[in-house]
Amino acid sequence: MNNTRRRFIKSGLLGSAVVAAGCTTEVAVEEASNAEPWRSLRILILGGTGFIGPHMVKEALRRGHTVELFNRGRTDSELFPDLKLYVGDRNGGLDSLEGGDWDVVIDNSGYVPRHVEDSARLLASVVSHYVYISTISVYGDMSGPVDEDTAVGILEDENVEEVTGETYGPLKALCEQRVLQEVGADRTTILRPTYICGPGDRTDRFSYWPIRTMRGGEMLWPGTPADDIQIIDVRDLANFTVDSIEQKILGVFNTVTPKGVYKMGDLLADSLAVTAADVTPTWVATSFLNEHEVAAGGGLPIWEDPEGEGAPLMVVDGSRAAAAGLVNRPTRETTRDTIAWWRTLPAERTETVRSGLSAEREAEVLALWDSTQA
Ligand SMILES: NC(=O)c1ccc[n+]([C@@H]2O[C@H](COP(=O)([O-])OP(=O)(O)OC[C@H]3O[C@@H](n4cnc5c(N)ncnc54)[C@H](OP(=O)(O)O)[C@@H]3O)[C@@H](O)[C@H]2O)c1
Repeated sequence: MNNTRRRFIKSGLLGSAVVAAGCTTEVAVEEASNAEPWRSLRILILGGTGFIGPHMVKEALRRGHTVELFNRGRTDSELFPDLKLYVGDRNGGLDSLEGGDWDVVIDNSGYVPRHVEDSARLLASVVSHYVYISTISVYGDMSGPVDEDTAVGILEDENVEEVTGETYGPLKALCEQRVLQEVGADRTTILRPTYICGPGDRTDRFSYWPIRTMRGGEMLWPGTPADDIQIIDVRDLANFTVDSIEQKILGVFNTVTPKGVYKMGDLLADSLAVTAADVTPTWVATSFLNEHEVAAGGGLPIWEDPEGEGAPLMVVDGSRAAAAGLVNRPTRETTRDTIAWWRTLPAERTETVRSGLSAEREAEVLALWDSTQA
């Protein structure tokens, strides 16, 4: 089956989010009909285990490509026993890749510009296409709407290599530049995902909401049901990544759910529908949360104060990726599959949720809030 036909069927089945983003089926088909004929590709993934890596591996294998991995062998090393693994550390240890031969590299483990420069330089003469997984955290200018042309954050000291909450975004922006310098824009794809969610997410940032819903009772929901949020389902990101290498979709793309479509109220509705839990949601005013230092993003993951400085990152323009073929599945599916995955995990993993409010803190804030509402 060639690309054009596959794209047509996919757009036809999963069209609603695409249409919401202003991309018609015809646009997607026209784009795909210009693609190279399908052929099996030899793909090197820097990373490949962890969270997003396995989804990319599985999608690429499912479509008939050959996949090889490069990592230190520390994370889930038993996951792909049949795949060739080049063992090494990106921090000066790329030797095992010398002399290798691949069509394309997917770089999903690059956080430090020096590491990314090294791999891009080594692989530039080998591969015809370099896909770098970046992040929407690269953006530094929050004064207006965010699209791919928004200015990125800048590090005062470009020699900094420590990844912190502050440096993560500007470091990833520098990593992007290193790839472009070494490989060239005519062979590079840069994907900038927002919160990546779905089965396998180790952060529990998205999962917190439906997991908390399962516990039932009065539940704190921040702000209003109309507050904007954005995610990307890890499987949609994997699909678009493999699409981009099959069709050589080059350039920089925000990979997000369509802006203005997904709201906190939808997350609640999805969570209730998936868990069938007996929950009384209490929407707590943003001003009250700020006053009591219940942090957006960290304490209340995924959500942002609509008036806060991070708010533009909840309405990032994803129309370029949608026009190039990114298809977002219904968010309820992400919620459903996240909970289905969560239910398979051992008790020692699920006894502590890694994000969100503890039961005690939530009860404390709700009690305070309820007392102001009496
Ligand atoms: N999670 C999100 O919501 C999110 C959002 C936006 C963007 N992103 C981007 O998505 C990418 C992947 O995220 P993830 O959550 O899947 O990462 P992850 O779970 O931490 O996986 C990292 C992978 O890289 C390998 N690795 C890590 N350090 C390495 C090193 N020094 N040398 C060689 N291999 C190394 C790991 O294997 P070993 O440990 O065995 O080496 C593993 O396979 C990152 O670039 C991140 O910036 C993530």
